[in-house]
Amino acid sequence: MRFYTHSLNKEGAGMIPTSTNVSIQVKNTVPADVDAVVTFTPEGDAGSAWDGLDDSDRTGLERLRTSGALRGKTKEVIFDVVEVGRGKFRRVISVGLGRPEKLTAEIFRQCAAQAVRSLRKHRLARSAIVLPAGPLDAADAARAFVVGGLLAAFEYEEYRGAGQKKDEEPSVRQMQWTIVAHAPEVGPIKAAVERARAATDAQNFARTIASRPGNDINPPTLAKVAQDLAREADLAIRVLDEKQMQKLGMGGILAVGAGSIATPPRMIVLEYDGTSETGKTPKAFGKKQKSTGPAAGPLLVVGKSITFDSGGISIKPADRMGLMIYDKCGGMAVLGLMYALSRLKPAIRVIGILSSAENVISSKAYRPGDILRMYNGVTVDVTNTDAEGRLVLGDALAWGIETYKPSAVVDLATLTGGVVTALGRHLVGAMCNNENLLREITEASEAAGEKIWRLPLGEEQRDQIRSEHADIVNSAGREGHPLQGGAFLSYFVPDSVPWVHLDIAGPADIEKEWLYYAKGATGWGVRTLVNWVERRAAQFA
Ligand code: BES
Ligand code: MN
Ligand code: ZN
Repeated sequence: MRFYTHSLNKEGAGMIPTSTNVSIQVKNTVPADVDAVVTFTPEGDAGSAWDGLDDSDRTGLERLRTSGALRGKTKEVIFDVVEVGRGKFRRVISVGLGRPEKLTAEIFRQCAAQAVRSLRKHRLARSAIVLPAGPLDAADAARAFVVGGLLAAFEYEEYRGAGQKKDEEPSVRQMQWTIVAHAPEVGPIKAAVERARAATDAQNFARTIASRPGNDINPPTLAKVAQDLAREADLAIRVLDEKQMQKLGMGGILAVGAGSIATPPRMIVLEYDGTSETGKTPKAFGKKQKSTGPAAGPLLVVGKSITFDSGGISIKPADRMGLMIYDKCGGMAVLGLMYALSRLKPAIRVIGILSSAENVISSKAYRPGDILRMYNGVTVDVTNTDAEGRLVLGDALAWGIETYKPSAVVDLATLTGGVVTALGRHLVGAMCNNENLLREITEASEAAGEKIWRLPLGEEQRDQIRSEHADIVNSAGREGHPLQGGAFLSYFVPDSVPWVHLDIAGPADIEKEWLYYAKGATGWGVRTLVNWVERRAAQFA
């Protein structure tokens, strides 16, 4: 049986899969042997950004400008072919930046994505990326290019088979980007590129595992992926199986996972410890405890990892049910974060939990009307087996907080369709019990270009889900639906522990190309979490 054997890489050990194949270097001149030179043109100022180009590229751009084609409109990509030696040609590409006063890192990430899409479409393997002279400084521009470019380079291909069309042109297998910076010293820019790359590789890793289908990724195989990551990235790991969870009294995750007999639930716990003297996460899990700040205790990040959500007995409509392979995206953001930390090495301790079950139907499946006892003793009247995410998260939050005594907690979950109805695909709904922590998360998300929007969480919502026979119901119907999710989770987080809940159901996976993302899993949350953890580490250093 192939269950339980699925590992991190189809290619073999020693590599974290990112669905990209790009090498990046930094120079201060354009290499001679490139297939394309990418330049950036601000609107209304065409020609000002041509420093550092050789005569043939300049001639090409000049031709585009005098013909009226080169306008510098945001994200507009145009190109010309120039001769750079006898019978040798290359493309000179211009990407419009829009009005310089409006240029931000986020817009530049989107410009980078357009540039990379164009390079891929034209199968241009080796390119020079000539960073604009301003208004972003060189390191900021380099960072933004790496993030937007690598996200746009993502192509999920693990399941391409023998049935591909023979005459279909292959996309570029390996790309080489030389970032050309007009800076006397490229050292600091190289460092910025390396760090941006670590975070973006981690996000593309999260997207890769998120994209794997439900017949390959289930709780035990996901645990295997996490174990492989822990080995590769020097993280500590601990996986609770169904027997251990039974002993601990985790009635929520066990009920949700009860229907899937061959692939039972798993609580997957990863630890990164950047506070240990050796700089290595101790293999013995959670042994030592050192303060990460004024309030002692690590950061705890919990992700909903439902590897497939059929809705259970309260079954979902057949239409689009297949998209529920993406119901593990909260956990994938946590997986991505842990990988990023192993490369960025901030001086802080972070625990990541992937609470994983498969929500399917069998004679063992949990039922509407069942009453469950959760890890912290709260009883839940199951009104709808499709409101399963809060059940797996409730146990993970209560147990994780009791076990690791965190100074702050964030959870990420594709929790409700209601948040998509309310906020659409481009925003994440945020609820909290602590204003300061929400401010930290909001600032981190803004820097990442990942947008969140606050939703209320108060006594009204907590009362709304009160049950007659048990303490709470897992769903009280359609009214204020995302808020009920947050209110439910609040029963598993003590008031004294700062906590933010992010309902990422909107942007976790998308149905058409958006910003730097292709259709499918976006890895939303990895960069917000990385920014937050890095800022925390810097603040309390
Ligand atoms: N995983 C879904 C939420 C979801 C729906 C995410 C659509 C992305 C797109 C979650 O488990 C769910 O089924 N929620 C129900 C809850 C309801 C039964 C109270 C929902 O949102 O309809
Ligand atoms: Mn569901
Ligand atoms: Zn779900």
